[in-house]
Amino acid sequence: MRIFHLSAECYPVAKVGGLADVVGALPKYQRLAGLDPAVVMPYYDRKFTRENVFDTVFQSATLLGTRRLYFEILKERTDKLGFELYLVKIPGLIDRENIYCYPDETEQFIAFQLAFLDWINYSQQSPDIIHCHDHHSGLVPFLLQYSKLYTRLAKTPTVFTLHNGQYHGAFGWDKLSYLPEIDLTKTGLLDWSGGINPLASAVRCASKYTTVSPSYLEELAVSANGLEYLFFLERSRGIGIINGIDTEVWNPATDPMIAEKYTSPKIAEWKQKNKEVLCTHFNLEPQKPLISFIGRLVFEKGADMLAGAIERSLVEYEGKVNFLILGAGDPDTEESLQELKEKFPKDCNVYIGYNEELAHLVYAGADFLLMPSRVEPCGLNQLYALRYGTLPLVRSTGGLKDTVIDFGDKGGYGIRFNNTSVEDIDYAITRAIVLFEDAKKLQTLRKRMMALDFSWHISAKQYMDLYKSLNPTTI
Ligand code: ADP
Ligand code: GLC
Repeated sequence: MRIFHLSAECYPVAKVGGLADVVGALPKYQRLAGLDPAVVMPYYDRKFTRENVFDTVFQSATLLGTRRLYFEILKERTDKLGFELYLVKIPGLIDRENIYCYPDETEQFIAFQLAFLDWINYSQQSPDIIHCHDHHSGLVPFLLQYSKLYTRLAKTPTVFTLHNGQYHGAFGWDKLSYLPEIDLTKTGLLDWSGGINPLASAVRCASKYTTVSPSYLEELAVSANGLEYLFFLERSRGIGIINGIDTEVWNPATDPMIAEKYTSPKIAEWKQKNKEVLCTHFNLEPQKPLISFIGRLVFEKGADMLAGAIERSLVEYEGKVNFLILGAGDPDTEESLQELKEKFPKDCNVYIGYNEELAHLVYAGADFLLMPSRVEPCGLNQLYALRYGTLPLVRSTGGLKDTVIDFGDKGGYGIRFNNTSVEDIDYAITRAIVLFEDAKKLQTLRKRMMALDFSWHISAKQYMDLYKSLNPTTI
């Protein structure tokens, strides 16, 4: 079964968050399960693209309104990621360093989708499934069905996976001319609130849509940044499939990015060694419990609450706990965390920026990982934390609710709280500090966490079953 995954991110080619991790791992497991997946993404001028060899497999030009855009499809020569990787390169539009935030982002992602469709159409490819991820490829299901250009492919089943309902990629009707000739009686399938909304269109036009956790699918009908009614109406066409993790990349026994690998069953000793390296570097004390946060410093993640909640705990439990924050994002939040670090230089440190290696070391060396997310479609951080014996403190929402059981409940291993508020976060931290004093209990919980299986095998099978249900000829 030939599958094309379309995505703006893919680890290790280009990553901002969990989308990259998913698109870099799921196809690997799909290939192991006997499918024939390929990832197609925009070309970025980054380390991975500079250091690897690519062959140009197709060249043509596409039209974006009146602009004629020359494009190339590049294929990574060795399939070193465990699947075929194709990059869409459009000189002057899709050949830059960053993934997001250019003023012509709308043009970039429309052109990406048009170039992909032109390529598979003109090169006579007939994929069994086109799997689109997030709004960056959200127009593909509509275009396949309602643009004359792609009639040959119109019956191709499409799956749309929604990783984040907060971002829609919406733009004005004045840019309709960027799309190729379409059936104008169907423009309602593009519209939401008076604009063209790629996310809404994908949810309506894909053969099926999925969310990255079952709870998130339910939550979208009440909280989807203005698309609630859409999700209420389309609820029955959606499926929640929880993300897995790449257990090769995230393996404490082999991880080259951590200071001490986990080779014996002595979890506490192994963790302590990683923690010592981390604490020495960040001027923290390794005998105290270490609570960390890793992630985008944005409202969705509850990052704006961190400084207030941490300050409260540091005042309450003076000298008894350490904090380490790794993240980048909203400038006000970054500033409030820097101020916190200056106020409590011995108990709190902050690394503003993106650092993949450091993230691995933090998962290995921290005792607890705090995730006060307001919205968390799945969340991978808690899954990595669990694999590295780091107890997650999570707000009960979305995928966090689906993957973390409070240690007070039968078979539990984490700490859950209900609100993204200073009070709830502080109470969760209090529970963590008390738990840290009970070494035996903590050891039992760490063993329990590390024995959990969040590998891709189960979820990859669910995607496979979904594909088969859409394309009976390939069974
Ligand atoms: P989201 O995709 O919403 O950001 P996820 O929990 O799905 O959240 O995935 C976040 C991914 O990005 C994880 O792999 C996490 O380790 C990584 N990450 C986030 N911020 C940073 C950072 N500042 N440095 C290194 N890795 C980060
Ligand atoms: C999004 C979500 C995150 C999820 C990730 C991968 O960025 O915010 O919760 O884990 O996508 O699906």
